[in-house]
Amino acid sequence: MVITIPEMMITSSEGPRPVPVIAMGTAVESVITGIEVVTPSTLIEAIKVGYRHFDTAAVYQTEKSVGEAIAEALQSGLIKSRLGLFITTKLWCNSCDRHLVVPAIKQSLKNLGLEYVDLYLIHWPLKLNIQDDFKGNVPSEGIAAIDMKAVWEGMEECQTLGLTKSIGVSNFSSKRIEQILSFAKIPPAVNQIEMNPHWQQKKIIEFCKVNGILVTAYSPLGGAGNNVLGHDRVMKCHVLQDIAKSRGKTLAQISLRWLYEQGVSIAVKSFNTERMKQNLDIFDWTLTEEELYKIDQIPQRRHFYLIGTMVTEHNDIMAEIDAELD
Ligand SMILES: NC(=O)c1ccc[n+]([C@@H]2O[C@H](COP(=O)([O-])OP(=O)(O)OC[C@H]3O[C@@H](n4cnc5c(N)ncnc54)[C@H](OP(=O)(O)O)[C@@H]3O)[C@@H](O)[C@H]2O)c1
Repeated sequence: MVITIPEMMITSSEGPRPVPVIAMGTAVESVITGIEVVTPSTLIEAIKVGYRHFDTAAVYQTEKSVGEAIAEALQSGLIKSRLGLFITTKLWCNSCDRHLVVPAIKQSLKNLGLEYVDLYLIHWPLKLNIQDDFKGNVPSEGIAAIDMKAVWEGMEECQTLGLTKSIGVSNFSSKRIEQILSFAKIPPAVNQIEMNPHWQQKKIIEFCKVNGILVTAYSPLGGAGNNVLGHDRVMKCHVLQDIAKSRGKTLAQISLRWLYEQGVSIAVKSFNTERMKQNLDIFDWTLTEEELYKIDQIPQRRHFYLIGTMVTEHNDIMAEIDAELD
């Protein structure tokens, strides 16, 4: 049975436009370790199960696989037209310069084999003066502050040129979004951030709601199993375990359902067919007030910090971004 995924609306060049609330994530450890790869056949499996939204990024090196899967799905008739899919990709920090933004999206489109993406995000509010792909430890001299106005102009140009339907940001604090809103001709449609029951992000969710920006939750299961970028605090959480047991659901479903009830969209990654299905089976039941209260009480702890992931030593620019995201 193919599950139909509900949609939420975001701003776009065509006015309000629907986005499927659950995206299949495609960030894997291969970015750093080369351990796990994304094959087009896995993504075809996801389309068969019902996924229509794919979340990729230049830095994940998964755009080509996503593109091959799309081409195959269209050719085989699994998807009737490109309009049936929603593709998100992201501007990597080494292209966060006014003159590099349009070439970067064009390269992503080439990788994807597409004429446009549905959503293009600034991956981090950070500029890296290094051409190498991200390998997890950036030299200090390669780190620079982003010129937000100039880069956002580049993002707006991407949308004006029809290379993307919507533009947005990722890992942005409300302070940085306010900065964009002060000069934007096209306001951001989306802010993609780390969010799950262990990092509930209530303040930024409220800020985005007030400003008509859809929040997308990444690492909704804590990135479980990803030794480099993830943790197991969500998947081993006793509160979620107890609720899952009493409701006859899996812990992952409780976490995803909780996110859905917060009014956000979700990027969740699974390359296992049963878990792909399970993660979509969250739309015909609700959490009770008591369950929501218990989840509300979970001690909060953010996982992803630039310092410790991208650099090992202190760096002022990264420290500022890390502090703003708390
Ligand atoms: N904007 C950003 O900076 C940013 C950062 C991180 C992630 N993201 C995006 O968000 C996506 C999702 O985040 P994520 O990949 O960090 O982590 P996640 O979706 O929270 O967790 C993925 C892990 O959970 C496992 N899993 C999935 N469903 C499960 C289930 N029902 N039961 C048990 N285990 C399950 C997966 O293993 P199996 O594959 O074996 O099922 C995988 O190891 C990424 O792929 C990426 O597209 C964006």
